[in-house]
Amino acid sequence: MTTSESHQQRTPTAAELEDMTPDELATLAANLDDVVVVHNQRKFPIPGTRAEKRAERAVAGWFIISALAGLAFLGSFLFWPWEYVAPGEPGYDLYALYTPVVGGMFGLCVLALGIGVIAYVKKFFPDEVSVQQRHDGASDDLARRTVMAQLAKAGKDVGIARRSLIKRSAGAAAGVMGLGLGIAAVAPLVHNPWKERENSPLWHTGWRETNGEVVYLRRDTGHPEEISLVRPEDQEAGSMETVFPFRESERGDEEALLHALRKSDNPVMLIRLRPGTHVIEREGQENFHYGDFYAFSKICTHLGCPTSLYEAQTQRILCPCHQSQFLATEHARPVFGPATRALPQLPITVNDEGYLVATSDFIEAIGPAFWERKS
Ligand code: FES
Repeated sequence: MTTSESHQQRTPTAAELEDMTPDELATLAANLDDVVVVHNQRKFPIPGTRAEKRAERAVAGWFIISALAGLAFLGSFLFWPWEYVAPGEPGYDLYALYTPVVGGMFGLCVLALGIGVIAYVKKFFPDEVSVQQRHDGASDDLARRTVMAQLAKAGKDVGIARRSLIKRSAGAAAGVMGLGLGIAAVAPLVHNPWKERENSPLWHTGWRETNGEVVYLRRDTGHPEEISLVRPEDQEAGSMETVFPFRESERGDEEALLHALRKSDNPVMLIRLRPGTHVIEREGQENFHYGDFYAFSKICTHLGCPTSLYEAQTQRILCPCHQSQFLATEHARPVFGPATRALPQLPITVNDEGYLVATSDFIEAIGPAFWERKS
């Protein structure tokens, strides 16, 4: 049928539309859309055969796998030990598996659901070849009123109404996935990160003074139990060294020493500028440095990579991840790349014994985003 022929078709009255059967309405909708069905063959013309049941079970199997994976995702998301454990500490292996398990289960849930839908289409949708003329503009009112009948007929053709196994398994898979996504969205709002007030872990780093103990700067020699404290004369002008916090009470305590080296917000770059370098201090942080020594958090304020590179000629600190650059002579303010915030500066001095020590914790949050931050 051509476009002009279909337009010449008499438009049925509202009463005639009311009297039409769903099949007649669907045929009318196809005619109005200038659709000509060239070939249509149902996959299972005789309902209830063993082949059809087998196909149903195969499709339902994917939906059941999806539902089970969804339940596993929910269970692991809610009950798997997720709190940070440093490498080497008891429970680290389980903690390290948290993200792979949660991600793997959710991925399997979505994958099996998708495969189930594809399998359903391949096994039950009729083999059909249709030709449709191209239309300009929107469908007319009558076509819109008959489209539901067309969709209902499509559902009837694939026999979804009588396939309760597939309907139930697909509903379970989609329901569990929806529930999991809902819980994942709401769960972070339930946990209060500030429950312990000023002792909440997010408020401070390993540089915080506890029980009046001095917090020394130590280097990592590769052996956590070996304590190598830093003296100003140890470091050459124009160089950088990574340092970590150390307290005398931790000496001999393998777990505490390892934790101090591995805690993600502890690494600090100790930079010794060349003598006579002109420096612009940040307001309120004029005495955070000791002579030519400046200590900045190593955690990039863009996305948290370690900003491990110091270029002595230009006095720039470089982050290898997305090439942000920070100027060491100007309180590590960003001068290039995507980072928009200066690296936090650790206040340091030298104690009576001649060792470099922190005079307090950082006075601002480490790394990228933070809840109380406006920008
Ligand atoms: S994490 Fe440093 S530039 Fe992106």
